[in-house]
Amino acid sequence: MKAIARKLPLAAAAAATLAGAACVAWLFTREGTVGLYQWTIWRGRLNAIMAAFAAPAALALAWLLARSRSRRAPGGAGAAPGRLERALGAATAALGLLVLAGAAALWIGLASIARQMSGPPPKLNLVDPVSGIAPDPRRGGSVLLSFSSDPHWGVDTANPGARLAVLRSVADLRPDAFFPLGDQVEQGMYEGPWREAAEAYASVLGGLPIRPLMGNHDSVIDGQAHFERFFFPDRSRSGTGSPLYYSIDAGPVRLFVVNLLWREESFGRAQRAWLDSSLAALPPGVEAVVLSHCFAYSSGYVDEETGLWWRDDPGVIAALSPILERNKVALHISGHNHYLELLEKNGVTYAVVGGMGGKPDPEPAYASPASVWRAPAGTFGRLDLLASAEGLRLAFVDRDGKLLREAAIPKRR
Ligand SMILES: [Fe+2]
Repeated sequence: MKAIARKLPLAAAAAATLAGAACVAWLFTREGTVGLYQWTIWRGRLNAIMAAFAAPAALALAWLLARSRSRRAPGGAGAAPGRLERALGAATAALGLLVLAGAAALWIGLASIARQMSGPPPKLNLVDPVSGIAPDPRRGGSVLLSFSSDPHWGVDTANPGARLAVLRSVADLRPDAFFPLGDQVEQGMYEGPWREAAEAYASVLGGLPIRPLMGNHDSVIDGQAHFERFFFPDRSRSGTGSPLYYSIDAGPVRLFVVNLLWREESFGRAQRAWLDSSLAALPPGVEAVVLSHCFAYSSGYVDEETGLWWRDDPGVIAALSPILERNKVALHISGHNHYLELLEKNGVTYAVVGGMGGKPDPEPAYASPASVWRAPAGTFGRLDLLASAEGLRLAFVDRDGKLLREAAIPKRR
């Protein structure tokens, strides 16, 4: 019994530390957690969790120190443990067991929440990157694509009426494919909003081809598991093995989807090399359009919660824009900021299309020097892209399909 009492504090502290480290390692290897930690108030919550996981090890050190002091005292080697040593040993064992149970419960709970499925996902006509998008013959070789972003199912601050209006206007247009560019839901770990989103896409768009992207909110605490079940059930059909970056042939253009969630932290070296080499290998005459959730250039504002700017992003610009510029990419389309904005920098056109019903961002306190046009804050809508042998034609339209702004991009390649 005495031997167990002697070993229990160390064993409990070691087990708690291992379980805590494994839980933290799991959390930070989920797509999007690094960005969640870097850019949001979740930094404090995650720091508190990590401090709690480290507490038994710190207490065990104090207990070992007290034990070695009492043994060094005159006559201490064979003496009974002192009051402080006994108290620290008992506290280490108790806290160790508590943290062990807490870490295991947190890990199992979070992993299982992100894997809950109440039934089969609604059937959608998901664009398969390997097969590409076949242009409608009635458009004579041109392809018509529609883009919007940030519907944020699952939060009261979003506007369901605006979201539905945008979807209905896309259904009326009948483009060759529709791309919601991320933040389908507010918090990706919960299944319900994903199901609502998929059901709305299925019922309003019918069999219209759709290719949703994953955004930063979608990724929250292993939200990628739900994203894949609802919107990318077969990774082998991405062509890269990743459901987060791939290319899609669409008549006279090739679309490149890249994984930019919060900022540039999810756009790693391998993905940058893939984008750069794939763009360089494009046959002459095929225009390149790059899609992502996060923007490079955008007018912006200071986030009330964190005090951080959400505007022209130096990290994304440094990581992405040189690749776009040297490969003569015609257009980059993103969401993330809830604006409709057209920008131009160093020969590349940038469009921000975060108008699909998420809470409108405030009127910008910062106007991007790259901005060409911006709809007033609070405008919901989408961007249509008509790609033909002559070049690209862009049309921003509001939630009811009313034209807001047109632009043309002559052939770049
Ligand atoms: Fe958003």
